[in-house]
Amino acid sequence: MQKFILAIDQGTTSSRAIVFDGARKIAGVGQKEFIQHFPQDGWVEHDPEEIWDSVVWSVKTALEQAKLSASDIAAIGITNQRETVVIWDRETGKPIHNAIVWQDRRTSAYCAELKQAGHEGTVTERTGLLLDPYFSGTKVKWLLDSVDGARARADKGELAFGTVDSFLIWRLTGGKVHATDATNAARTLLFNIATNQWDDALCTLLDVPKAILPEVKDCADDFGAADAELFGAAIPILGVAGDQHAATIGQACFEPGMLKSTYGTGCFALLNTGADMVPSKNRLLTTIAYRLEGKTTYALEGSIFIAGAAVQWIRDGLKLVKQASETGPLARTADPSQNVYMVPAFVGLGAPWWDAEARGAIFGITRNTGPAEIAKAALEAVSYQTRDLLDAMRKDWQGGAEDTVLRVDGGMVASDWTMQFLADILDAPVDRPTILETTALGAAWLAGMKAGVWPDMAEFAAAWECDQRFEPTMDADTRARKIAGWDDAVRRTLTS
Ligand code: G3P
Repeated sequence: MQKFILAIDQGTTSSRAIVFDGARKIAGVGQKEFIQHFPQDGWVEHDPEEIWDSVVWSVKTALEQAKLSASDIAAIGITNQRETVVIWDRETGKPIHNAIVWQDRRTSAYCAELKQAGHEGTVTERTGLLLDPYFSGTKVKWLLDSVDGARARADKGELAFGTVDSFLIWRLTGGKVHATDATNAARTLLFNIATNQWDDALCTLLDVPKAILPEVKDCADDFGAADAELFGAAIPILGVAGDQHAATIGQACFEPGMLKSTYGTGCFALLNTGADMVPSKNRLLTTIAYRLEGKTTYALEGSIFIAGAAVQWIRDGLKLVKQASETGPLARTADPSQNVYMVPAFVGLGAPWWDAEARGAIFGITRNTGPAEIAKAALEAVSYQTRDLLDAMRKDWQGGAEDTVLRVDGGMVASDWTMQFLADILDAPVDRPTILETTALGAAWLAGMKAGVWPDMAEFAAAWECDQRFEPTMDADTRARKIAGWDDAVRRTLTS
C-alpha cells in the first residue's frame, strides 16, 4: 500500500506542496509565491486564479522532485490561510471577484457599527470570535453587496462561498464537492462552535444566505478526489484544516495545556483546552483546534497579524536586505545601547488589542539609528507580541498554561537569535522541533491517518522530536525594562 501523502499548504504569500513518505520525511517540495494586491489603503486581495495556478504548479513540481506520479500518492491533505474569502459561480467555477484576504480592513466601519449596536456579546458567545474585519463574515457581506448582481444570484443558489480550502476542493474535484472543515468554518463568524452548525441568527445578522455556504466536515474526512485529469490519476482528499490548526496537529499539541506558536506572515499561538470551550476574558479567541470523528477539541488562540510580514517589508519595502534570512545577522550587529521599538500594526493590531485603525510605528529613533536597529526592532516585536498573548492565555486558562513549553514553527524560527530572545522575553523555555514543516505535516497526518497508512494520534505524537530547546538567560531587570519599553510603545500606537 502506498504511504506517500501530498500536503497542499496554501498560505498568504505562497502556495506549497510537499510530498511526505511513509516515515514522514519530505520527498519533494514545490513552492510558488503569488502577487499581493493592495487596491486601497488597508485592502488586501489575491487573485483566486493565480492561487489555483500556483497550487497546481506546486503539486506537479513536488511530484516531479519526489520522482513520483499521482498514483503513488495515497491521499491529499489541504491546509490554508484562514478567513480569506472566495465567492465563485457554481456553473463556471469562476470567482466573481478577487479573494478578500484575512488582513483586509475594508469592513472595519461595519464591524464598529455592529459592535455599537451591541452585537459583539452574541457573536463571541456563539463563534468564539470578535467583531473584527479579520474574519470572513463581513467580507462575504461586502462582496454580496458590492459586486453587481451578486446578492440576487446568491439568493438563487447560483454562487458558492468558501475559504481557500473550500475553493481548492471545488476546483480539485471539478466542482463535485462544496465542503470545508470545522476549523475553517470556525473562522467565518457564521459558524456556531458549540453546536458545530452554521448559525441561522448570525447568517441573518450578517445578511449571508445559507445557500452559499459549504458543507462542514471533520478535519479527517472524505472530501472527494482530485480529478484524474489534473495530475494523471485521481487522488482522494482526506484531510483539511486551517493552517494554524494543522500546525497545532503537526506539533502534536493533542493534550490540554499544550501550546504552539507559528511564525509565518503573522504569528498565531494556539493553546489546546481539550473538550472545554474556554471563553476569553482577555480578548483572545476561542476556536476549534480540530474535529475528529465528530469530537471537537477546542483552543484559545492569540492572533498577531504581522510577524514574517515585517521582515518582508524590511526586504521589499525598505530594501535593507536582499534575502529575508539576512535580517537576523543584520539585527545582531545593532547597537545594544539603543532602545528602538517597532509596533508592526501595518494592518491594525490583533490580539489582545484588536485595534483595526492602529497603524505601524517606530519609537526611540536617534541619529545613530540605522538598518541594524530597525531590523532588530522588527524581530524583537514578534517576541513581545507573543508575550502579550501568553500573558492573556495564563489569565484565561486555569489549566496551568504557565507550566507549558512553547513549541514553535514557521520560517522565522530558523533564527537561533530570534528564538533565544523569545525565550528571554517569555521567561520560559521554547522548543523548536526537527521538522519545521509542521503545518504541512499536520495536514498530511490528517489525510494519512484517514487513509489508514499513517500512525494513529498517540504514535504520531510520540514521534515528535525536539531539535533545540531555548532556555531563558536574560536577567529579570533587563527583561522588565525591555517589556516596559514595549508596553509604552504599544500604548502610544493604539487609537483608543
Ligand atoms: O489567520 C490567518 C492565517 O491563517 C495566515 O497564516 O501562515 O499565512 O501567516 P499565514
